[in-house]
Amino acid sequence: MNKILVTGGAGYIGSHTVVELQQAGYEPVIVDNFSNSEERSLEGITAILGKEVKCYRTDCADIVALREIFEQEQNIAGVIHFAAYKAVGESVAEPLKYYQNNVGSLLVLLQVMQEFGVQKLVFSSSCTVYGIPEQLPVTEQTPVQKANSPYGNTKKVCEEILTDLANSGNSNMQSIALRYFNPIGAHPSALIGELPLGVPNNLVPFITQTAAGIREQLTIFGDDYDTPDGTCIRDYVHVVDLAKAHVVAIERLLQNKAESIELFNVGTGQGNTVLEAIHAFERASGVKVNYKIGPRRAGDIPKIYADVTKATEVLGFRTNSTLDEAMKSAWDWQMHLQNTTANV
Ligand code: NAD
Ligand code: WQD
Repeated sequence: MNKILVTGGAGYIGSHTVVELQQAGYEPVIVDNFSNSEERSLEGITAILGKEVKCYRTDCADIVALREIFEQEQNIAGVIHFAAYKAVGESVAEPLKYYQNNVGSLLVLLQVMQEFGVQKLVFSSSCTVYGIPEQLPVTEQTPVQKANSPYGNTKKVCEEILTDLANSGNSNMQSIALRYFNPIGAHPSALIGELPLGVPNNLVPFITQTAAGIREQLTIFGDDYDTPDGTCIRDYVHVVDLAKAHVVAIERLLQNKAESIELFNVGTGQGNTVLEAIHAFERASGVKVNYKIGPRRAGDIPKIYADVTKATEVLGFRTNSTLDEAMKSAWDWQMHLQNTTANV
C-alpha cells in the first residue's frame, strides 16, 4: 500500500482527497496545523472510511518537525501539498504572511523531500495564474499573467519554483501542478465539506448560508459584464471530482509516466454565470435564494473556464457530477452543519 503524505489534508479539498486516496487503495497520512480547519473534518473522514487516518498536527513550514515526520514514516511514496492560506482579500492586506506560508512551506517541503529521496509531488495550483485571460476556454498553453492578488502570485511563484527545479538538471523531483478552477460542493455523505470561517468570500458557501437564513441576502457582484446575463462566468467543479484528479495524478507519478513537471487544468470545461449557479442551487435544493444585484467586486475576473482536454487525455480525468448535483451536495452539507453545530 503506497503511503501518501497529504499536507493540508484536514482542509476542504484535502479531506475529500484523503477519502478518495484511501478508497483507491493508498495509505494517506495527513500533516495539518489546523490554521483553517477543524477536528470535525477528521471525524468526518473517519466516519466515511470506518477507520482513522493518521494525522500529524504540525506546521509543514517547520523543517525540524517535517523531518521528524519523514523519519518516522520512512517509506513515503509521494506527497500531495494542499497546505496554504487561500483568502484573496487577506493576502492583499498581509502579503508577507501569504508568501511566508505558501512559498515557505513549499520550499521546506521540497528540501525535506530531497533529503529523504521522495520524488513525487502533486501541487495545488489555481486558475488564478491565468489572470484575466484573453482567450476562452483557457488551456495550459494560455499565458500565465501577474495574478490579481498576492495569494495568486504565491501560486505562480510556486509553479515557477517547481519548473526551475525540474529544469535544473540537479533534481529527480517529478511534480504535477493541478490548476483548480472553482471547487464547490461536498462529499455525498455530507460528513465532510467546506468550513468557511466567518463571513464567506466565495459564492457557494454564501448561497447556502443565505438559503439557510444565516445571511440575510446574497449580493451578486455586478450584472454589467459582457456575458449572456451580465454576471461573471466561472467553471464550478465538484470537489469530489477534483479530489479524484489528485488520485490519478499521484498514480501517474508513481507509475513513472510523468515528465519532471506537468501542469493540468482541473475544471468541468463548462462556464456558468453567477445567476445560473444560483438557479442551479434553487433547483437542486428547492429553496429560493434572497439576492440583489450590487456593484462589481474589485479584482474579479469577468469570465474564465477551463479547457480540460489535457487532463482528460493524459490523466483520464472525468467529471461525474453536474452543477445541480454539486449544489445539492453543498446544501446537504450546510444542513448537516446546522444539525451538528450549536449557534450556527
Ligand atoms: P483549506 O484552507 O480548506 O485547506 C488548507 C489546509 O491547509 C487547512 O486545513 C489548513 O489548516 C492547512 N494549512 C495551512 N497552512 C499550513 C501549514 N503551514 N502547515 C500545515 N497545514 C497548513 O483550503 P482548500 O480550499 O482545501 O485549498 C487547498 C489548496 O488548494 C490550497 O493550496 C489552495 O490555495 C488551493 N486552491 C484552492 C481553491 C479553492 O477555491 N478552494 C482554488 C484553487 C486552489
Ligand atoms: C465566484 C463568482 C463573484 C460571492 C476565488 C479566488 C481564486 C480561487 C477560487 C483559489 C464571482 C461572484 C461571489 C458573492 C458574488 N481560489 N460572487 N457574490 O472569485 O472565482 O475565485 O476562489 O485559488 O483565486 O479568487 O470565486 O467564489 O469568490 O466568486 O456575486 O457574495 O461569484 O463575483 O463571479 P472566484 P468566488
